[in-house]
Amino acid sequence: MDHQKNKLYQWRDCLEFNINTVHDLYSQYINKRQVDMVSSFGFGRGIATHAEGMYIHTKDGRKILDFTGGQGVLSHGHNHPRILKVRQDFQDEKRMEVHKHFFSPYMAALAHNIAQLLPGDLNISFFCNSGAEAVEGAVKLAYKYHDGKRKYILHSDISFHGKLLVTGGLGGSPEFHFPFPTIPHIESFTFDDIESIKSAVTRLKTEKGESDIYAIILEPFNASSLSQCSTAFLQELRQICNRENIVLIFDEIYSGWAKAGDLFYFFKHDVIPDILTYSKSFGGGKSSISGYTTRTPIFKGAYGSTRDAILHSTTYNGYGEETVTAIEAINIIIEEDYVSKSKHIGQVLHAGLNNLKTKYPDLISEVNGSGSLNGVVFNKDMYPALKAALNFVPGDLFKDEGFLGKLMTAAVMSDLFNSHGILTSFGENKNITLFVAPSLICTDEHIKTFIDALDNTLGKGKLKLLVAFATQKFLKT
Ligand SMILES: Cc1ncc(COP(=O)(O)O)c(C=O)c1O
Repeated sequence: MDHQKNKLYQWRDCLEFNINTVHDLYSQYINKRQVDMVSSFGFGRGIATHAEGMYIHTKDGRKILDFTGGQGVLSHGHNHPRILKVRQDFQDEKRMEVHKHFFSPYMAALAHNIAQLLPGDLNISFFCNSGAEAVEGAVKLAYKYHDGKRKYILHSDISFHGKLLVTGGLGGSPEFHFPFPTIPHIESFTFDDIESIKSAVTRLKTEKGESDIYAIILEPFNASSLSQCSTAFLQELRQICNRENIVLIFDEIYSGWAKAGDLFYFFKHDVIPDILTYSKSFGGGKSSISGYTTRTPIFKGAYGSTRDAILHSTTYNGYGEETVTAIEAINIIIEEDYVSKSKHIGQVLHAGLNNLKTKYPDLISEVNGSGSLNGVVFNKDMYPALKAALNFVPGDLFKDEGFLGKLMTAAVMSDLFNSHGILTSFGENKNITLFVAPSLICTDEHIKTFIDALDNTLGKGKLKLLVAFATQKFLKT
């Protein structure tokens, strides 16, 4: 049956699209509401042509300083030359991408390298493609380690682990306002509160008085709210998990690979998890690769028998080019000392942001973060008046509570982009933080440019920024 409706595009056709064509195609074939939301910002009305290092170039000739760090993916910046070379070499030499019948020397080397960098017996790795997939693999591993005999998993009230059914159920993020089905017996504890862990551990026992909890999962550094667990909390948590034989999972998908100031945030606290999940900059900004690494006894207990050895697998486990990209990404992180870079970026950024907090006490209520993952929280005292004023604005965007909560941050982001060519993003949490999380190749000069621009933006005043943002949506060209 011939059912083709229109001609098919070639990939180079895309380079000729203007923004209206892209919006139309998104509206028709992807998600119309996404177009409404993102096109409220200047960047939603531009087309990126190429990107290099800290910069994105647009079709209208702008050179945008990217201070988002690509939502955690771009620690190496855009198109790092070493990452590109590895991929080009791999292609030019026609290396074998995948075959289930041959062992992958690349995957073997990647797993070896990770084991060298992680402490203790965190030795056994599994690679997949998205963060949520890594977390689901970790949860399965913990459940299987207990042979399906324990019922409960605990997660923090401040958490984000992904948007699949299991990981969605394990998230405490406000993004999850719809009750999708998930795995049973999920219980929540309060972030960084050891008493709430103790109370759950005391409560969730079998009839024999043994622990009925197979795993506790948390982000020691929650990137979306920039909340950090204390050393005392993490160390006591580790002791409880040891005593009760509960598998402790640290999700460092966002904070890992030097972004929060140490190679992994947990290094700072001298506490070793049973399973670690990671992703994002692990792929050097080019490869969608994620993974978990577990302690040898946990892996043996779960999948150590021949019968159970491949209870967990995926088609896209360790594709060649993805894997060699990750090998190179890690080697860059180590050889170019991204840990020191991240710490330095954190210090310089905090100094600049705290100066602005002193200068604009009516606007900035908080500056927080660690390493290159930082944020600014704005005062919310304008929202009630603004909400009333925006009721007459056509369309439903400004009537959405979630969007209104983001307005001040959105207004600042918008001015940074429109007036200064700087791209930022916001965190999805109760404070709606302006994310200031540049790549780890960011220099002091980039930070100065950013701080001067933010100073100029904030100097315009809250009202002017909010009105400019609210009206620009209806004045778009
Ligand atoms: C801590 C954490 N875990 C899991 C995920 C999910 O990763 P993905 O979006 O690749 O599924 C994210 C994504 O941002 C994350 O930050």
